[in-house]
Formats: sequence, C-alpha cells, structure tokens
Amino acid sequence: MNITVVGLGYVGLVNSVILASYFHNVIGLDFDKTKVATLKQGTATIQEPNLQSLMNDASPRLRFTTNYKDAIRPNKIIYIAVDTPEGRDGKPNMTNFNLVLEEIAKNAIQDSYIVIRSTVPVGTNKYAKKYLEENSDYKFDVISHPEFLSQGSAVDDMLNPSRLILGVSTKAAEDLMLQIYSNYQKRRIPILITTPETAELIKYAANNYLAMKISYINEMARLCEIVGADIEEVSVGIGLDPRIGTQYLKAGVGYGGTCFPKDTRALSWLGSSHEVPLELVQATIKINNSQPDILIKKINSHFKSLSNLNIAVLGVAFKGGSEDVRNSIATYVVKHLLDKNARVRVYDSLAIENFQKEMQRHSRIDYSTSILETLDNADAVIILTDAKELKELDKSCFIDNMKKPIIFDGRNLYRPQNMEGTTYYSIGRQTVK
Ligand code: UGA
Repeated sequence: MNITVVGLGYVGLVNSVILASYFHNVIGLDFDKTKVATLKQGTATIQEPNLQSLMNDASPRLRFTTNYKDAIRPNKIIYIAVDTPEGRDGKPNMTNFNLVLEEIAKNAIQDSYIVIRSTVPVGTNKYAKKYLEENSDYKFDVISHPEFLSQGSAVDDMLNPSRLILGVSTKAAEDLMLQIYSNYQKRRIPILITTPETAELIKYAANNYLAMKISYINEMARLCEIVGADIEEVSVGIGLDPRIGTQYLKAGVGYGGTCFPKDTRALSWLGSSHEVPLELVQATIKINNSQPDILIKKINSHFKSLSNLNIAVLGVAFKGGSEDVRNSIATYVVKHLLDKNARVRVYDSLAIENFQKEMQRHSRIDYSTSILETLDNADAVIILTDAKELKELDKSCFIDNMKKPIIFDGRNLYRPQNMEGTTYYSIGRQTVK
C-alpha cells in the first residue's frame, strides 16, 4: 500500500521505516529541512537499536520530503505523527497537529484515510474529520491509532507490540487497517477494534496507569525508609503477583521524558475540563514532582554546605539508554546543586551534548567524557539514570577515584549489602555508612 507519514520524530520515523519494511511504499514528511536532508542520504536521525539497518533494507520503499503537495497528493492513507506538546494548564498544544490538518485539506485530491498516531485529546478524531470535510471537497475517514513505543526499544516495540488499538468509525477503515497490519494479524498480536473516543482515551489511560505505578512505588519507598523495610524487596514481593506484575515498579527519583509528565497533566486537564476531577492522576503528578527532593534532602543533610564541593553526576538523560534530556530529573537536580554553589561535573554516554545545550546558560558545569574522569577527586556522586554501564560499575571505581566514596543513588542500581566501604544512600532502603 502507499502511505504518507507526516512528522518524522520518534514515532513518525519508526512508523515510516517499519511500514516500509512490511513492503508498503512510504513517503515521510517533516518541515525540518535538515532532518529530511539527512534522511534522504539514508541516515536515521534518531538513535534506536536496529533502526538504521531496517532503514537500509527498506530504502527502496522509503522517500522523504518537506513538500506537502508531494507527500499528500499521491497517497490516500495519511498517518499523522507530529508532537502535541504540553500547553497551558496541561492542555495539549495542538498547533502542529492543526497545521497538518490545514495542509491535508489544502493538498488532498481524493477521499482519504487519516490515521492519527499522535497523542491527542479525546474528541480530536471527530474534530479532524469535521475540519477536513469543511475545508476541502473530499471525504475523510479518520482512524485513532495510538502508539505505545518507548524510547530505546522503539523498533522492537513496534515490531512486536503488546496490542494494536484501532479506533474506527466505518467498516472500510477497519478493513483497511487490518490489511495494513495483516502481518500482525498472522502473528496473533491482539488487535482491539473500538471507537475513536475509546482509542484516544486508551493512550492516556495506559501512560497514566504506568506513571501511577511509579508514583505508587515511590510513595511506598518513602514509608520503607521510616519503617526499615526495603523497597526493592517490596517491589519484587508485590510484582510476583501476576495481577500486579513486575514492570514499572522501580523506585527512584521519579519519571521524566516527553510522555509521562505531559500525559499525566493532559489527562488531569481533560478530567477538570469535563468537571471530573481525577484524584489518582493528580496524586501521581504530586508525588512525582516532589520525588527528586527526597534525594536532594539526603544530599543537603549529609553536607552542611555544598559550596565549592566537587559533585559528580552520572546519567543525565530522562532514562538510561536514551539521548533525550527533555524533562529529565537531572536538570532539576543539577540546577539545585548550582544554586548551592557546588562545582558540578556530569557524564552521560549518550545524552551529554543535549544536556550541554539544555544547560548552556549555566556556568560551573564540566562535561566529562568518561566515568572515571567524572569521579576523579569528587566529594560525592549522584546517580540519576539506570544506564547499563552505570549498573555494571564496581564499587572500587568510587573508592579508588573519589575524595571519599559518598554515593547518592537515585535509581537503586546496587545492593546495599555490597556497598560496604562506601557511604551509600539510595531510595526506600537503609543507608550504608
Ligand atoms: C512511555 C511509555 O512507556 C510508552 O509505552 C509510550 O508509548 C511512550 O511513553 C509515549 O507516550 O510515547 P518513554 O517515555 O519512552 O515511554 O519511557 P519509559 O521507559 O516508559 O520511562 C518513562 C520514565 O519513567 C523514565 O524517566 C524512567 O526512568 C521512569 N521509570 C520507569 C521509573 O522511574 N520507574 C520504572 O519502574 C519505570
């Protein structure tokens, strides 16, 4: 089939490449000329395992452009995968999405199917259909098809999804989507056919549920510290119940990124706008907002003053294995350290350049290219992601390189029992001194 994908960020690019790898002909469009130029040369603009090799293999069926006319005219199946960033009061900012609708209305030359992959408020599907039909001469069948891929495992998540959600209004749309995804059907991947409104809500409900699990375990971690329990074992103990499940029960300094913070506030806004206060969602947000302070409090109470101390920070992305620093907890923690006049040296194997851009207005930060250099002569180290290379560090790295091995582990990467010889603070567990 011939498919156009508008928006070539994480979701759009991964969708384009995978649809092409399933033998569809794909035209990918983005307004970012530099990005499109790079893609035209055959280079992926994001780092995701296996993306580049899939892109190489699918290249005969992949074309990229910045021109709407070239992208919309030839194809009657159009995926929309532009970002819907957070706006005022958590309400999603639909500017980019609405611009795409405008361009589709302007450039369409036939009745078309519009497949919404962006995370959008409930009601967007209906609105899009109405807008497109009022502003062009054609009929539009709009499908709500939320995505669930995570950064760092985007390709695998899309090749082997836990489920496909298809919010459709017509049998024709259902048949078309099942044809596009015949490969998934053959592999018996669950496909839920539902209404557009339900599909739109499923995306928010899923992300909010996962965020709620994280805030729940973080709240339990607070209690563990007082009553002398161990959050890691509590997590295993409850996660072994299949009704609860083991995932998203890792305590730490809280969730970040471009999805959970935005989508929790968007759902809270949606509830309020319909006069349905969503109290669990609000509690999830509140707990997460104060979670980094749990670690900061430990740092501040260990040292009388942070002034002129050398503080090493390991991991500044919003999660390990990512280059993305948007809404990363590290930004908040490092700003606090700088406010207290500490000298900060940061390291992250993937995200350091993005972090440097994000923090360019702040002096007193050194950007390091190796873990040992970061730890060298440090008064304390703060660990903020679960990157594999950090998990694998031996405690001798801290003992041999730091002034004193004082560790504040915001991701519970090590077992306290193994940290003898260091001062080891973590989340929801007893401190080792
Ligand atoms: C999230 C969802 O997991 C995807 O299913 C969804 O498609 C995506 O948002 C989206 O809406 O586009 P992502 O933001 O890439 O994916 O990252 P996650 O791996 O879910 O992690 C989010 C945050 O939660 C990270 O800061 C991570 O460190 C934190 N986290 C995760 C915890 O603190 N504890 C956990 O147990 C798990």
